[in-house]
Amino acid sequence: MKQFISVADIGSLDKAIAEAKEIKNNRFAFTELGRNKTLLMLFFNSSLRTRLSTQKAAMNLGMNVMVLDVNQGAWKLETERGVIMDGDKAEHLLEAIPVMGSYADVIGVRSFAGLRDRDEDYQERVLRQFIELSGRPVFSMEAATRHPLQSFADLITIEEYKETKRPKVVMTWAPHPKALPQAVPNSFAEWMNAADYDFVIANPEGYDLAPEFIGGARVEHDQRKALEGADFVYAKNWSAYNAPNYGKVLRTDRDWTIDAEKMALTNNAYFMHCLPVRRNMIVTDEVIESPRSLVIQEAANREISAQTVLKRLLESL
Ligand code: CP
Repeated sequence: MKQFISVADIGSLDKAIAEAKEIKNNRFAFTELGRNKTLLMLFFNSSLRTRLSTQKAAMNLGMNVMVLDVNQGAWKLETERGVIMDGDKAEHLLEAIPVMGSYADVIGVRSFAGLRDRDEDYQERVLRQFIELSGRPVFSMEAATRHPLQSFADLITIEEYKETKRPKVVMTWAPHPKALPQAVPNSFAEWMNAADYDFVIANPEGYDLAPEFIGGARVEHDQRKALEGADFVYAKNWSAYNAPNYGKVLRTDRDWTIDAEKMALTNNAYFMHCLPVRRNMIVTDEVIESPRSLVIQEAANREISAQTVLKRLLESL
């Protein structure tokens, strides 16, 4: 595997899940693979889980790790070609990427959507420039439109806890005070469709995701109806995708908050969220603290998804 930016890069999900299981059973079985190899993790945006789990995964594989927070301590980077650089940005990505590539064997990039220009966000220009110019295998640590390391960890978690071969998985929009990208829900939808679960997306009118990410999933605008019989409830906020409201927050009322009364409509479902989560906006304290909440297990599996991906990238060198 030469890159990891979407579900298409991982190939057979059954094989990937089996490999992840093997790694989870013995995470130090492949320490020779990363010896004298350097991972550069580059963050244009904040992180807790991605930073720590990916660094831990790389260390499990024997790698050296360098972490750069682009907006703290590095030169501000210009990303647009043709710009007269007379502002506060001292370096262009077109030089910075090959320079960084010369110091690293594998590069991870986090670069969120700006939520101002949909076409620009959905072109994934920053991530694609790293793939084109770094000369190294590149993986996404959440880009403008997808968060595949999260979705892979979510899939591993569902496989660990599912009680039927084809569970009903409901991804539901939930309120949040700020505009968030569509990367996590897009990606989750892509992976759930590839896994061929009974997958339903519940969101208010005005919050439909891009058709290419909805794929074959059922879209339901009545949250309670969608939750009936669910085996897994995956809550997430996202801002509007469709024009003219791209990137906007259309509502913040708590009608779509996941609470115990809504969970009672399900088939004793597990609750999932990628974290960080706004308690009592997205989900009540009672639900997230219940024995059916998998949020910690999901986050722990981020180490496993990252290690599976890094192992495959190292094997390609
Ligand atoms: N879920 C996730 O990616 O968490 P961080 O933003 O903290 O990395």
